[in-house]
Amino acid sequence: MISINHLYAKQQAGEKLTMLTCYDYSSARIMNQSDIEMILVGDSAAMVMHGENSTLPIDVDTMAQHVKAVAKGAPDKFIIGDMPFLSYRKSLDENMTAVEKLMKAGAHAIKLEGVAGNEDLIKHIVESGVPVMGHLGLTPQSVNQFGGFKVQGKSSDERVRIINEAKKLESLGCFSVVLECVPDELTQELVQHIDMISIGIGAGSAVDGQVLVMQDMLGFSSQFSPKFLRRYLNTEQLFLEAFNAFAKDTREQNYPDDSEQY
Ligand code: KIV
Repeated sequence: MISINHLYAKQQAGEKLTMLTCYDYSSARIMNQSDIEMILVGDSAAMVMHGENSTLPIDVDTMAQHVKAVAKGAPDKFIIGDMPFLSYRKSLDENMTAVEKLMKAGAHAIKLEGVAGNEDLIKHIVESGVPVMGHLGLTPQSVNQFGGFKVQGKSSDERVRIINEAKKLESLGCFSVVLECVPDELTQELVQHIDMISIGIGAGSAVDGQVLVMQDMLGFSSQFSPKFLRRYLNTEQLFLEAFNAFAKDTREQNYPDDSEQY
């Protein structure tokens, strides 16, 4: 089982860390056999699992179900449960109930986006024994404020703000931060100011590790092609070939054959 101490040790040794998103038991079972250290049960589940056009619609109970399925499939990995939109902007009671649901479903840490207004809560979660991963740059839950999924931190004001936010997250006790879609120069400067584990997605190579959405890196969709994405499979094509082969075999009465029936 990969613990937070394994992650720190790898970071200290200068070894790059790896994280992928995952939302279901069957994929988690395969991921558990891989060299990936961390699994993020991200709120991107709203988009890739439930077909929404943003991460906003998913709720805590649905996220907890995804965490539970992944925890069953990947007992050896460090699992981070993503706090969904507004689930950590309510009363302390409600916020902590959301944390509790994700942790009791099997997460080893939680992730939440941004800093402003979250300071007391982050401290409280950390003091409750729950590791917190921050998320800065393109924070998808703020898509309506950004006016789309756009690269952040391009101006010097924004760069200074994001670096200060990272420092703040660290001072509040976060063990890690995800940096999403920011220029590489910003990342290079930011990592000079923090010791916590930095994980990037579209944030260049200066980070301690990289994260990708599983469906994106497996090529489930040929339509989603951000600059940072490297596809390791063409799953869309592979699935289509398999689906069509099954349809053909069935129509041509090649399936089932003698060995495939009782
Ligand atoms: O929900 C998610 O998949 C994420 C990653 C993009 C970091 O937050």
